[in-house]
Amino acid sequence: MATPLIIDTDPGVDDAFAIALAARSPEVDLRALTTVFGNVGLELTTANALRLLAHLKRTDVPVVKGSPGPGGAADVHGEDGLGGQAHTLPENPESVKSEDVVQFFADHLTPDTVVAAIGPLTNIAKALDAGIMFPRLVVMGGGLGIGNMTLRAEFNFWADAEAARTVIRKGNPIVVPLNLTQRCIADTAFLANVDPVLSNLTGTYREYLAANPDQNHSDRPEGILVHDAVAVAEAIVPGTLQLRTHGLDIDDEGALVEGKHQVEVAEDCDWPALRAFMEQRLSV
Ligand code: RIB
Ligand code: CA
Repeated sequence: MATPLIIDTDPGVDDAFAIALAARSPEVDLRALTTVFGNVGLELTTANALRLLAHLKRTDVPVVKGSPGPGGAADVHGEDGLGGQAHTLPENPESVKSEDVVQFFADHLTPDTVVAAIGPLTNIAKALDAGIMFPRLVVMGGGLGIGNMTLRAEFNFWADAEAARTVIRKGNPIVVPLNLTQRCIADTAFLANVDPVLSNLTGTYREYLAANPDQNHSDRPEGILVHDAVAVAEAIVPGTLQLRTHGLDIDDEGALVEGKHQVEVAEDCDWPALRAFMEQRLSV
């Protein structure tokens, strides 16, 4: 029996790879995409979610339009959020199912549902503040002592620090931080072997990484960092990532800091095996 999965997302190029991985994995039943602002604004992340589902031939999956906010990563993901290539994806004959993300979670979360949150956590925090509890919540975000928006804060947590704090304090999440995902690069060989429509979205992202080398990963090959697909892989196959519990909190900048809230953090994985898992499922 496939596990119900809802992905809260700001597509976003690595979000696109994560959504495709879920749609092509029999272990999960993709029940919905809930959209949030993030890489680009909400109108674009929502339009991109609809187009991605049309490309994946999953127009049966509802899209729920969530929280608005400023786009913040067009330099990485392109002005349209998909490397300037959103128009190469088909239109979706379906439109947004709902614009009340909290009510959608209230109506559709079942005890076996897993939610993967791979953008800013505004939607998730609103649901938690409304008393909704998530049976299993996997979050891509944060960094232990590192960041990609500031020296200490990662983009998803930085974009809505108050929401990140709510999720750490009330959501009992599994956190998949930059410390792990910055080691997970989909290089040009990987991109040549997977769905060319997805690979075609990666130009801006590849150029950005090439122009902004990471001093902690100086040997990083050309490619993209599949942050979100790493987190969604844990939602698809629990145990993919090696977890350890940390006492954490979130500061005003959105940085993970030591605190009293016990949080499971993904610290490691067998990246060659996970890369092969992704490559096999994302090939067409
Ligand atoms: O810091 C990486 C995260 O920010 C990923 O979710 C990426 O899509 C961006 O949203
Ligand atoms: Ca994302």
